[in-house]
Order: sequence, then structure tokens, then C-alpha cells
Amino acid sequence: MTSIPETMSAFVLTGHGDMDVLVHHTDWPVPKCGTHDVLIKVHACGLNNTDVNTRTGWYSKSVEDGTTGSATDASEDDAAWGGTPLHFPRIQGADVCGTVVQVGKNADQSLLDKRVLVDCWLRDWNDPHNKNKTGYFGSECDGGFADYVAVDYRNVHAVNSELSHAELATFATSWMTAEGMLNRADVGEGDSVLITGASGGVGSALIALAKRRGAKTIAMTSPAKRKQVEALGPDQIIGRDPKALGEQKVTVVADVVAGQIFPSLIDSLERGGRYVASGAIAGPKVDLDIRTLYLHDLTLLGSTVVPLGTFADIVKYIEDQEITPALAATYPLSDLHKAQQAFIDKKHVGNIAVTMD
Ligand SMILES: NC(=O)c1ccc[n+]([C@@H]2O[C@H](COP(=O)([O-])OP(=O)(O)OC[C@H]3O[C@@H](n4cnc5c(N)ncnc54)[C@H](OP(=O)(O)O)[C@@H]3O)[C@@H](O)[C@H]2O)c1
Repeated sequence: MTSIPETMSAFVLTGHGDMDVLVHHTDWPVPKCGTHDVLIKVHACGLNNTDVNTRTGWYSKSVEDGTTGSATDASEDDAAWGGTPLHFPRIQGADVCGTVVQVGKNADQSLLDKRVLVDCWLRDWNDPHNKNKTGYFGSECDGGFADYVAVDYRNVHAVNSELSHAELATFATSWMTAEGMLNRADVGEGDSVLITGASGGVGSALIALAKRRGAKTIAMTSPAKRKQVEALGPDQIIGRDPKALGEQKVTVVADVVAGQIFPSLIDSLERGGRYVASGAIAGPKVDLDIRTLYLHDLTLLGSTVVPLGTFADIVKYIEDQEITPALAATYPLSDLHKAQQAFIDKKHVGNIAVTMD
């Protein structure tokens, strides 16, 4: 039986603000393993924009600009993703790869000693399909920017893979989000999918998962990242302006950027096309000409909380080696500030993870 220490290294979010509200402790209490929980020794935890946006308070409706990674003047009342206040102190980090070292008495005992990934959507297990009753790992409960994390065993999936801990820690948020978008837009063979932010975590996953469904993929990226995005295998690459498509139309737009390009994204859809959004990194307020929407029989979709079972699908694709991670860099947990700054600077392709071992 592994001996579990009383205290651990952890990055703790102390409020909304700039990077300095994320404070490193080396004597933070190791979480207690509840009866339905498992305790995970974290090996690696991926970064994601939810953690950055939550820190800065960007989700508040009072914020109208794109994301910058700097403090906003958000109202604290709706600064978290779910539109409710966040409770501090909070350990963020939703993309955990670790090993189960303790199992609660009502949890699945077979998880002990297994290498696992965590589904970041926290369900009410008495009403697990009710999306209004979901929380997000690292927002409504402590997450993985720490040596240990406790989480309900029903969120925990054993994974059988040759990939490294850090590679496995790039999947949860981005790939589940991308798969959720493609499910919402019912993407399949015969579709052509225009993907914004294609060099990012969600965008790179959208390329792979749309290709997996047999759809044609058109990736949008900045010129500096073009070569690396090419390696992800999209059928076509254009720059950040959808007008480069000219007369070419697509059946689906999968968007995480929004902002000023939104009208051109909508214009790129053929009659009956579907637009699906999961992010608005360039700005949440957009211009929509309602005439284009109805005269072209378009469908606008949003996607955040994915149906139960989506994460299990991602784990299966990993185990079947259908999908490959795009790990851009790793940092030790103690360098989380540096890791998050690199993530915000967006010079990378794919995702960044911190490691604990
Ligand atoms: N709803 C959800 O459940 C959910 C889950 C995950 C993420 N998200 C959201 O989705 C968005 C993308 O997430 P991610 O993790 O994929 O982000 P990411 O890894 O940071 O990548 C975003 C990409 O967007 C492009 N980009 C950045 N700023 C831009 C701008 N101002 N204009 C145009 N393109 C810009 C960049 O690509 P190029 O330099 O190549 O253009 C960047 O690599 C974020 O807003 C995030 O909050 C939502």
C-alpha cells in the first residue's frame, strides 16, 4: 500500500486577477478520499483556457473583450464558466493523468494502482444526464495542479496506452470539447468543416476528430504556425481570415475564435450549413445579420457540457491509437506561472502540460 503524505505541493487560486493570484504552496493538505472517491497521485496536468479565463474572470457578462490572460474588471458574481461565483481557495487543473493510490469504500476497487484520466465534467450521479447539475473539475472542485487530487470514481477512467503522462494530460478538455462540437453539428462523411484556432488544443483536436469521421477539414491558422498545422493533416489551410475561401463554401464551421471574423465565418456556410461554437477567444460579442441566418436556412449551435459517455469515447480512441496528442511543451508544476504565460502567448501548437514527478 502506497504511503500517502499529509501535505503536498499545490498551486492555489486565491481570487480573480493576474498571475499573482495563483500561489504555490509546498505544504498544502493532501485531499481526503471520500467514500465514492479515489485519490489520484497526479503525474501530469494539461493547461486549458477555462483555468485562465476563470482566473481572470473573463466569463462574466461584464467583460466584452477577447481573452488576454490579464485581470478583467469582472463582477465576481458571474466570473466562473457556469455564471456563478467561484469559491476560494481553489486548485485548478482539469486535465489530469495520474495513478490511483487510494479508493473510497463505495468506489470501484479495481481502479487501485491503475493509470487513469479524469472526465472533467462533474455530474450529479443521482441525475447524471442533467446538464444543469454539472460542475467542472478545477472550478467547482479542486483539480490537478497539485501532487494529489480526490475525485468521484465515476469520473475516473483507466487508460491503457504507451503515451507519456504529459501526452495523456493533453486530451481531456480539448478533445472532449472538440468531439462535443462535432456531435452537436452531426458531422460525418460528406461534410466540409472550417476550423478556427486550428493550432490550439481544441482546433488541433477538431482536425483529427473530423478527419476520423471522414469529413473534409479546412484549418485556419496564423502564417507562423502553418507548417506545424500542416503536419496535423488538414485537407486545406487558410490564414485567420475566412474571406480567403473566396466562393468556396463549407457545410460546417467549428469555431473557438469568434470576434470580428464571425460574419465571414457565417458567410462561408452553404445553404443549410451548421455553425457550432465552443469558444470566443477573439471576442464574445459578434455581428449577426439575421437575414443570412434565415435566408440560408442555417443552424447556430453552442456546445460546452457534453453528454455523458463522450469522455469514454475519447479514451477508446486513445487506446485504439486512432488519435495522437500534440504536446508542445512540459514544465514542472513549480513553473506553472511560466507554463501559463507560454500558453497565453500562443506561440505553440497543440497543448502544454505541467508534470509532478
Ligand atoms: N466550451 C468549452 O467547453 C470549451 C472548452 C475548451 C476551450 N474552450 C474555449 O475555446 C477557445 C479555444 O481553446 P483552446 O484550448 O483550443 O485554445 P488555444 O490552445 O489557446 O488555441 C487558440 C488558438 O486560437 C487562435 N487565436 C488566438 N487568438 C486569436 C485571435 N484573437 N484571433 C484569431 N485566432 C486567435 C490561435 O491560433 P493561430 O495563431 O494559429 O491563429 C490559438 O492557437 C478558448 O476561448 C477556450 O476558452 C471552450
